[in-house]
Amino acid sequence: MPKSKTPSKPAKAKAAAASAPGIDIGISAKDRAGIADGLSHFLADSYTLYLKTHNFHWNVTGPMFNALHTMFEAQYTEQWTALDEIAERIRALGFNAPGSYSEFVRLSSIREEPGLTAAPAWHDMVQQLVDGNEAVCRTARKVLKVADAGGDDPTADLLTQRLQTHEKYAWMLRSLLQ
Ligand SMILES: [Fe+2]
Repeated sequence: MPKSKTPSKPAKAKAAAASAPGIDIGISAKDRAGIADGLSHFLADSYTLYLKTHNFHWNVTGPMFNALHTMFEAQYTEQWTALDEIAERIRALGFNAPGSYSEFVRLSSIREEPGLTAAPAWHDMVQQLVDGNEAVCRTARKVLKVADAGGDDPTADLLTQRLQTHEKYAWMLRSLLQ
């Protein structure tokens, strides 16, 4: 009996894309792909910063414990909700969202911080979160340009809201170090 050939992963993805219903929301396929790619990087940055903020909520020590433990919690809780909005915007544009730690590490511009061994001192944690929030802002601004060029107002709106929030977090955290 002849063996049936199992389709490779890219061939399967191609076949799935070909059978998927078409999308015509007034943004070209090329622009949608570029915006979705930018949003994948933005999601990876946002997820890495979320995890780092939660990590520091758990592992912070020192005289600032109470203030920082509480401040980090408020920030990671808000960030967690935003992750879903970003991923679902990628889906609305017709693409899959990254959803694994290895994908986030590959796509993120922010270096993750281990929690199990040698947690940083509180002021290093705060500095890392200032840097992380600023990095998220830089990525958002890059993607915002792509979204504007493609006439994608919902993505531009989402990124503008995230910019406002992360610039505020960066300011609040920076103020702790002055
Ligand atoms: Fe907690």
